[in-house]
Amino acid sequence: MEKLRLRTGTHESLILLGEQIKNIRFYLPEGKIFVISDERVMSLYGQHFSEFPVILLEQGEKHKTLRSLEVITERLIQESCDRSSFLLGVGGGIICDITGFAASVYMRGIPFGFVSTTLLSQVDASVGGKNGVNFSGYKNILGVFNQPEFVICDPAVLKTLDQREFTGGIAEVLKAAAIRDEEFFGFLEEKMDLLTARNEEILGEAISRSVKIKADVVQRDEREKGERRILNFGHTFGHALEKHTGMPHGEAVSIGMVLAAVLSVKLGLLAQNEADRIITLLKRAGLPVQSPVPPALLAEAMTRDKKKESDTIHLVLLEKTGSAVNYPMKTNQLEELLHDLC
Ligand SMILES: NC(=O)c1ccc[n+]([C@@H]2O[C@H](COP(=O)([O-])OP(=O)(O)OC[C@H]3O[C@@H](n4cnc5c(N)ncnc54)[C@H](O)[C@@H]3O)[C@@H](O)[C@H]2O)c1
Repeated sequence: MEKLRLRTGTHESLILLGEQIKNIRFYLPEGKIFVISDERVMSLYGQHFSEFPVILLEQGEKHKTLRSLEVITERLIQESCDRSSFLLGVGGGIICDITGFAASVYMRGIPFGFVSTTLLSQVDASVGGKNGVNFSGYKNILGVFNQPEFVICDPAVLKTLDQREFTGGIAEVLKAAAIRDEEFFGFLEEKMDLLTARNEEILGEAISRSVKIKADVVQRDEREKGERRILNFGHTFGHALEKHTGMPHGEAVSIGMVLAAVLSVKLGLLAQNEADRIITLLKRAGLPVQSPVPPALLAEAMTRDKKKESDTIHLVLLEKTGSAVNYPMKTNQLEELLHDLC
């Protein structure tokens, strides 16, 4: 097991890589604990949490809403939960995002932690302290920055993920390598077949290296004033695709990374063979690389994304594999470029 401390100005969060889910009790404080999860995760792993009350949420992105926040709040009030209570999110990115948000606003904030059970959530969603919900078709438009006390990443639970869920998580692993670490990208090129087969050793290493990249960036720029924006590589396009098509997050990010790489080539930042390298590896992972909607249609959703400031949109582009740059662009220029991509 590997312990990583993510330190920000206000908090220290413990990330437990390779810790077993059955050891959860060693990390929980005294006082009332409430588990927030969904039916599927509890049917598989509920035995490790049988001593705690469980608040079950509906599964899926369409339930990452204020309604789920209401369900949690109503139950916490009913059970006289106070500031000494603790919320434990057990599940994928959706459960973690909602749990962190609920804990951050209930009575102006109570402590929380995560048992992260999807690959996407272990390498990305549960680390870094972004918590939030969707509203009126806008992804994560309501949210806070607030770090969990701990995140448990037990790779053994990833065995029960269905193939599509698992593959979606690989998109965020590839993102971490593409933006920050060419050597890691090369490792993934070499080991992709073992990773897709969920080889324990390769999976453990992929999770650990992805989390370290994310934690390193977050520690320097928790509030996404500058450097942290690179973690959004593929996400501005990806969020627009999610909105248009309802496709899962990881798949949308995969196509978003392809679009960002193609734009990087078009703007003369990235060599064509580097973009091809990324597209080839995404395909080998089993991820989609072709947008099901014409890129120009995404422009409108993108210009309404949170990452837009006035008439400027903050794109994340690549200058080579392993090196991302923030690239502010006027929305009208982006619209023109996306029309050309059609
Ligand atoms: N906060 C952040 O920084 C951040 C970063 C990336 C993504 N996200 C968010 O994460 C969400 C996507 O998360 P996700 O891909 O984990 O999807 P998810 O949370 O919907 O979980 C996927 C499905 O897998 C099931 N599941 C979970 N663990 C399982 C297991 N071990 N075995 C079998 N089934 C299991 C769940 O019941 C669920 O139906 C999106 O809403 C995205 O916006 C947040």
